Amino acid sequence: MKSRNVPKLGLLASLGLLARLGTAATESAAPEGVVHIGIQRRSAVDGRPLLRRAGGTITERLDNDIRQGAYMADVKVGTPPQTLTLQLDTGSSDAWMVYTGSAICKKGECSDGSFDPNESSTYATLLKDDFSIAYADKTSAKGDYFNDAFTIGGSTLKNLTMGIGIDTDIPYGLLGVGYPANEAGVRAGKIQPYSNLPVQMVEEGFTNTVAFSMWLNDLESSSGSILFSGIDTTKYTPPLTRLTLYPTKDSSTIHEFAVALTSLTAVSKSGTDRLGSTSFPLAAVLDAGSTSSYLPADLVSQIYAEAGVTLDDKGSPALPCDYRAAAGYLAFGFGGPGGAVVNVGLSELVLGAVGNYTGGKHDGKTACRFGIRTAQEGGSFVLGDTFLRSAYVVYDLINDQAALAQAKFNVTETNVVPFASLSATIPSSTPAPNEAKVQEGLVTATPTSYAAAAAFTATSGAAAGRVGGGRGLLGGVALAVMVSVGAGFVGFLV
Ligand SMILES: *[C@@H]1O[C@H](CO)[C@@H](O)[C@H](O)[C@H]1NC(C)=O
Ligand SMILES: *[C@@H]1O[C@H](CO)[C@@H](O)[C@H](O)[C@H]1NC(C)=O
Ligand SMILES: *[C@@H]1O[C@H](CO)[C@@H](O)[C@H](O)[C@H]1NC(C)=O
Ligand SMILES: *[C@@H]1O[C@H](CO)[C@@H](O)[C@H](O)[C@H]1NC(C)=O
Repeated sequence: MKSRNVPKLGLLASLGLLARLGTAATESAAPEGVVHIGIQRRSAVDGRPLLRRAGGTITERLDNDIRQGAYMADVKVGTPPQTLTLQLDTGSSDAWMVYTGSAICKKGECSDGSFDPNESSTYATLLKDDFSIAYADKTSAKGDYFNDAFTIGGSTLKNLTMGIGIDTDIPYGLLGVGYPANEAGVRAGKIQPYSNLPVQMVEEGFTNTVAFSMWLNDLESSSGSILFSGIDTTKYTPPLTRLTLYPTKDSSTIHEFAVALTSLTAVSKSGTDRLGSTSFPLAAVLDAGSTSSYLPADLVSQIYAEAGVTLDDKGSPALPCDYRAAAGYLAFGFGGPGGAVVNVGLSELVLGAVGNYTGGKHDGKTACRFGIRTAQEGGSFVLGDTFLRSAYVVYDLINDQAALAQAKFNVTETNVVPFASLSATIPSSTPAPNEAKVQEGLVTATPTSYAAAAAFTATSGAAAGRVGGGRGLLGGVALAVMVSVGAGFVGFLV
């Protein structure tokens, strides 16, 4: 059996691994035990859909929303090093490169760089044909697992296991930094978990523990950062609240970054509404590889009522672009009463222009895509980039915890605090006090009116003056009505 060749990682938290990692980390002295990586937001260009995994839990297809972006990181692979740019993904766990000799690169589409094993003296095939990852939009990458040198953020790992996409229709690779249990070959039952990037960084002594912090920065900003084995206390407003990660429904083990979303409140100048969902408390996956967020239908219809969102003729959520200027936010609460709260301003949820309204009350206005969508029936709930930009998130794969705080935008100073050791608790974090009682105090019913809606849907300048239910999308008006309200769109800009 091929899989015997792969070193067995076992559970990250198993004592055997902890002992092994501990030895490696002390042998090779890293001054701070932290690795910093700059990431850039890249627009989705060329009409190319953004990727979404099909295997496992998430099957939504993302359409190509102009100016939504993927977060990209620069890496070097092989000896001598070949430079590539990979899409960062917390929702998957393999690093993979597109092969220079693949059909798609031969067509000249691989502008983010590609990898040619023939040009690397340190390349070693690990498992031929056993790398295979598929996405919901029917794109996929298939090839080999291999080992080679890998440089990121100034650190060179001598021997990282990666995938190579030989047969693929995707013109760039991904950098998955999730749990080894979520590696594509593991999900397919072909291999045992291997040490992926966050684990290998510890094993080669660059970092103290298997954890990383992510600061995506504001929608208007093009760069953020990821910090392995450390946090940057200048990038958020305390408290940094620690939460338990939960297994998602298709598994008894934790292999994704799912936290308990326990409340959602709409706040604007005209009022405050506690929104409800029969799905509360819901396991929401923090996924930087997803540009939009996906929530239950009952919650989404209330959000749309608040923010004046209607569905266009493709069934995608849209709203007048000038609602971006509305002062108001959605407060996401996690881990029960007194737990983490992240406020997401409407300006962070109004994405790129998709066309103009014709007829109806928005006649002639430009329509923009909205960044929260209804999760597929039976699909996972996902907090993607439209949520994550407003959050400072620390992912701790050893203690199976995440910490959340309100992100600060455009901060230029830094104050990095390393994790002290393998299995150390997230620095500067405090536990959510009522996590054990996550079920308590949850609102499951729809509010009877939407007091916050008036100011959300008033355009810039008029916001303060329009108090009271201005738009008539009031309680009990369900999604179906909002669909019919959607004025016909013409001339979609694609
Ligand atoms: C790598 O070498 C193999 C065998 O010589 C060859 O078939 C393949 O085309 C080469 N790949 C590239 C990208 O040059
Ligand atoms: C690299 O790691 C693999 C296992 O992942 C191992 O089989 C191989 O011997 C290692 N190579 C080097 C040069 O250390
Ligand atoms: C952050 O910087 C970008 C430009 O780099 C700017 O458009 C945006 O408004 C800034 N955000 C805040 C909150 O200051
Ligand atoms: C939408 O309207 C703007 C002016 O408000 C115009 O510049 C633009 O061309 C229109 N777009 C389409 C697709 O009709």
